[in-house]
Amino acid sequence: MTDLIINVTTRDGHARAIQGQEGRSLMETLRAGGIEEILALCGGCCSCATCHVYVDEEWASALPPLSEDEDDLLATSGAREANSRLSCQIPFGPALDGIAVTVAPED
Ligand code: FES
Repeated sequence: MTDLIINVTTRDGHARAIQGQEGRSLMETLRAGGIEEILALCGGCCSCATCHVYVDEEWASALPPLSEDEDDLLATSGAREANSRLSCQIPFGPALDGIAVTVAPED
């Protein structure tokens, strides 16, 4: 099996590389990798925004487009930036191997 990597920076600025898992969402993969700051209270159904991350700009074109629901939910966040995404809405796989994300501040 190929090793897939996600580079994540936590809220305190600590950088970690965690094992990616194909076929799960980025949120599920971050949680499985021990990133507990990603609360994912709604379980991934796009209703809580507690899986908010900033995706490094260089990865923007590799991401699926923002859905209307994701856009609406992000609009409720005071921490939204141009590169904000809800990690539960991003399927993880080889195309995102090496992606770099930062956990957004808590709202
Ligand atoms: S886990 Fe709730 S919106 Fe992503």
